[in-house]
Amino acid sequence: MFHKVGSLRHALHAEKVGYDGVYAAGIEEGGHPLDDDVTTMVLTPRIAESVNIPVVTVGGIADGRSLAAALTLGASGVMMGSRFIATKECVCHDNIKEELVKRKEIDTIIFCKSFGLQGRALKNKVVSDILDLEKSGGSFEDVYPLLAGERMKDAWEGGDVDKAALMVGQSIGFINDIPTCQELLETMNREAEERLKQSHGLIA
Ligand SMILES: Cc1cc2nc3c(=O)[nH]c(=O)nc-3n(C[C@H](O)[C@H](O)[C@H](O)COP(=O)(O)O)c2cc1C
Repeated sequence: MFHKVGSLRHALHAEKVGYDGVYAAGIEEGGHPLDDDVTTMVLTPRIAESVNIPVVTVGGIADGRSLAAALTLGASGVMMGSRFIATKECVCHDNIKEELVKRKEIDTIIFCKSFGLQGRALKNKVVSDILDLEKSGGSFEDVYPLLAGERMKDAWEGGDVDKAALMVGQSIGFINDIPTCQELLETMNREAEERLKQSHGLIA
């Protein structure tokens, strides 16, 4: 069993209590990164050099280049969330997939940090309203209706990209198409191999 962590201390603890491996999730990830705010670039090697269980890089991975980078940093593999949303098989509305192709790495933001519940989501109307409420001293009870599960379900299924906080990571900067999962993984593997060969050439 693998445990998702955002810090070296949590990885060490996961190893100590018997997990088989860890997902090392940097601040770039979509969802709820740890508020240590450590990047994938630093977190993967720090954990990989400190534990004796496999490390899987999470956050900022969406193509062959980022896969090659993670492997070079000491990961045994990668885990992706956002990239799989923009695939043919994903059951969400096509508007959301197309929006991810349009939006880039500057289009996500951390919100709910003031409540100790930080999340990274696509910049949109609802996330902007939540941030305004936080700035004006609003309570979690004020923000809660904007985070309700029903709203989330409606947005993903109905395709209204402004209706809910869509939890995606900075890796959306790498998303330029909507392939099948098989096409995506084959392209990533090929690209990663090419990148690793090229880097080897640079130091050989
Ligand atoms: C739509 C969506 C929902 C997610 N929900 C959760 C969740 O409930 N729990 C969790 O630990 N991570 C959640 N994540 C985070 C993923 O497990 C993963 O860490 C993240 O997607 C990796 O970053 P990436 O999206 O840039 O690939 C979610 C991610 C996405 C895209």
